[in-house]
Amino acid sequence: MNYLLGIDIGTSATKSVLFDEFGKAICSASYEYPMYQPNTGWAEQDANDWWKAVCHTCKKILSDSGIDNKQISAVGLSGQMHGLVMLDEKDNLLGKSIIWCDQRTEQQAVFLEDKIGRDKLISITANPAITGFTASKILWVKQNNPKLYEKAKKIMLPKDYIVYMLTGEFSTEVSDASGMQLMDIKKRQFSKELLDKLEIDISLLGYMHESSDAAGRISKKAAELTGLDEGTIVAAGGGDQACGAVGNGIVKEGIVSSTIGTSGVVFAHTDNLHIDKYGRIHTLCHAVPGCYHVMGVTQAAGLSLKWFRDSFCSEQIKQAEKEGVDPYLIMDKMAEKIQIGAQGLIFLPYLMGERSPHLDPFCSGVFFGITPIHEKAHFIRAILEGVVYSLKDSVSILRNDMKVDISQVRVSGGGAKSSLWKSMQADIFESDVAMTDNAEGPALGAAILAGVAKGLYKSVPAACEHVITTKNVHKYDMNKANQYNKYYEIYKSLYPVLKNEYRKLRKLL
Ligand code: XUL
Repeated sequence: MNYLLGIDIGTSATKSVLFDEFGKAICSASYEYPMYQPNTGWAEQDANDWWKAVCHTCKKILSDSGIDNKQISAVGLSGQMHGLVMLDEKDNLLGKSIIWCDQRTEQQAVFLEDKIGRDKLISITANPAITGFTASKILWVKQNNPKLYEKAKKIMLPKDYIVYMLTGEFSTEVSDASGMQLMDIKKRQFSKELLDKLEIDISLLGYMHESSDAAGRISKKAAELTGLDEGTIVAAGGGDQACGAVGNGIVKEGIVSSTIGTSGVVFAHTDNLHIDKYGRIHTLCHAVPGCYHVMGVTQAAGLSLKWFRDSFCSEQIKQAEKEGVDPYLIMDKMAEKIQIGAQGLIFLPYLMGERSPHLDPFCSGVFFGITPIHEKAHFIRAILEGVVYSLKDSVSILRNDMKVDISQVRVSGGGAKSSLWKSMQADIFESDVAMTDNAEGPALGAAILAGVAKGLYKSVPAACEHVITTKNVHKYDMNKANQYNKYYEIYKSLYPVLKNEYRKLRKLL
């Protein structure tokens, strides 16, 4: 039997999963690490933590599964996107990594559009300037810490740093690199024109692969630190959203995924380029060679619920410990008892600013409609609903404005563990939702890419055909959809009213 290892460098943890060649998960291990928020809207992580997590989880999988490292045919990486990792000439990390949900770069996004021209930027990169994308972060370091920038000899994305640590190969691949906003998306290469205008030396950036190419092999040093076999093929891999999509079989038009992890993402495969002229939906390269994808991103999806759990649910956490269950399960049960609309409580999930559809780094979270009737359970229900309303904003743009075919929605991510959150997605999107039998989305996608790199599968779609099966989980209910719609209309009207106030509020901080 051939085995494939998928490693996903997430925001709250790294999760490594060993699969057999039929996509069955055999063994998994995860390792958590912190996110640092030194200022409002800032978000950083230590890339050393990711590497430690990779070494730890690989060793643990080898010891727990009892599988010989020589039986692992190839390794694939998936990772949180848009983060900035910089190395000096001796390959030392230059400070912490500014990660995807950091929103400090408003001025740099303006600078980027002024320098290149908004239309030109969209024609090259397929997106207007986005604060969370890597280009704005590079410009931020250049403008705010020029001495540090001068020392930088390599600029990498989070999972590319891990590929480098595993293989010594300095490379990247199209699905993640298109989220740097430095690529000519039609050519699937870095744009010389853009780099010249921004004065970013191309030698700082890695060699560009398609996601299912082999990027290198496990080095002797990495073999010692991870327990993996020296010489094992490592695929170039993909951004977590592209890998999650591959792991959910979103590799042809018509099937759309809705993933609730730390962020929330509505994702569709497209054979050709589709661009939302307002930039509300991102267009990036897919991990399927030659193809593209469009996605709407809610910055704080699971993050909103995690924030509420950690700040206000110590009682539920204690109860969960006693009962040996996940605190989210208890919170879910509380929310189930509350009716649709949380008795007039509406939540805007803009804890980390927002991307789709507002592209606004200054907006923040809101509970609207609080009265003395409301208890903790109402707040939990309002968070679950507010996150799905935000995802519905993206579904509506894809469906109505971009005319993307949505014949089936596949739900995934930690949020898909909640039957309430799943059924809300069906009712609020007004679409039946299905789930794949394997819940390991990004790690499975990374393992599939590894299998293609090794030659075990003919292509990414062929591999998905071979390993991915789905089950119908929930039919939508038109009566509930109509009830949710009344609250969604109010939800939609709140942001425009608050837009200017958010900016005034931020100025006070
Ligand atoms: C996608 C995005 C997030 C991160 C973290 O554009 O920023 O999904 O990749 O998961």
